[in-house]
Amino acid sequence: MTILITAGPTREAIDPVRYLTNRSSGKMGYALAEAAQRRGHRVILISGPTAIDVPDGIDFIPVESAADMAQAVGHWITSAELAIFAAAVADYKPANVPTQKIKKTGETLTLELVKTQDILGSARSQFGFTGVLVGFAAETENVIENARGKLIRKGCDLVVANDVSRKDIGFDSSENEITLVYAEHTSPLPKSSKEDLSQDLIELLENLHPKKED
Ligand code: PMT
Repeated sequence: MTILITAGPTREAIDPVRYLTNRSSGKMGYALAEAAQRRGHRVILISGPTAIDVPDGIDFIPVESAADMAQAVGHWITSAELAIFAAAVADYKPANVPTQKIKKTGETLTLELVKTQDILGSARSQFGFTGVLVGFAAETENVIENARGKLIRKGCDLVVANDVSRKDIGFDSSENEITLVYAEHTSPLPKSSKEDLSQDLIELLENLHPKKED
């Protein structure tokens, strides 16, 4: 099948030389892309800037900002049967981006931020995606409850929850410990390398079908 995967951080410009971003390395999304490709799927990887080499045999779409990622996902998602959103997309971006570098004038500088597009939340409602929709939830508290809220609000079939308050898993680490959060139940997977978890996750997702709308 065709699998669309988002990965990495986004960069939201403050001015021509500065940006807002986060600690995502892209390791989780790239491991998923590689696992899917190795199992014979066509993979469309839409990624923010990372230091990872693009795996061979993958359709790679590099993006920078949340708006770029939203546009690429909107363009490609209906060619996929399964979409996995592992990217750490900025929730807010600067309201105004001057064309010139901001000068160091006052003692403080206040940035006004506005919401970015919720790309995962747009998959069903705006992009018309009817395949299997898998989100991630990066949480620091009430991990399962918050993940289930995202599952329902964003129309996902599954949310992969990880506790990003821990240093040994989640952002920029080689390992992760995840809980699969479905509408009716949860299923924890023990701590393991992102590669091994990705292999298990792709195998499991091959047999997951989109839930039917009532
Ligand atoms: O890249 P690594 O260093 O390997 O780290 C992996 C990871 C911690 C980034 C990954 O495991 C992870 O948790 N990814 C989701 C990060 C995130 O932004 O979570 P969230 O709970 O804020 O967002 C929920 C979901 O909505 C995610 O699927 C996210 O991709 C999506 N989202 C969020 C905001 C937005 N504007 N658009 C989105 O599509």
